[in-house]
Amino acid sequence: MDQESPAVLIPEEAIRERVSELARRISADYAGAGELLLIGVLRGCYIFLADLSRRLSVPASVDFVAVSSYRRATARGGAVRLLMDVRSDISGRHVLIVEDIVDTGRTLRRLASSLLARNPASLKTCVLVRKSAQASPKIEVDYAGFEIPDVWVVGYGLDLADRFRGLPYIGVVDAGSAGAAPSRGDAPRGGTS
Ligand code: IMP
Ligand code: MG
Repeated sequence: MDQESPAVLIPEEAIRERVSELARRISADYAGAGELLLIGVLRGCYIFLADLSRRLSVPASVDFVAVSSYRRATARGGAVRLLMDVRSDISGRHVLIVEDIVDTGRTLRRLASSLLARNPASLKTCVLVRKSAQASPKIEVDYAGFEIPDVWVVGYGLDLADRFRGLPYIGVVDAGSAGAAPSRGDAPRGGTS
């Protein structure tokens, strides 16, 4: 496959529609709850978070964490390291973790448990893309954008060794390219693990 222009898996328009839909649901669920704290997981979240936050109709502030999960480009199994913590005191706040993609769920699980220990009023998770093949049954995602097969995707913030983040669509850089479908099982929930 041509690494200069990854094949389209999720077109720009489909992303736009789905992000708007997620924003509508989040806005409905948090209406009247006070200020929501969006915690983006750097770096992959930056475009998704920018688009999502601009479409919310509830008051929201933004903070970030940085984690490093994979030591090498597409390898699995490295330790999850917290490279940068939030600046906010999250106790008593309604927190929504905004993540680009969930594969094994280890990054999200580790992050959620470390944030839960600080006693937020609530903690939920919003993920743009979920890899269905690897999804551990233990990881619950409250708001999920798309289910995709086990391929390496780039674009819309996602990278391969820091390349391709600026693509307006989500593309595949590796072999295999079944279609992506809007995720089901993303009903709102009271909390997450
Ligand atoms: P997990 O801990 O296995 O769920 O891995 C999640 C993290 O791995 C994400 O936050 C991404 O940074 C990275 N990742 C997993 N799959 C992909 C992919 O297909 N493209 C880009 N990054 C990915
Ligand atoms: Mg990530």
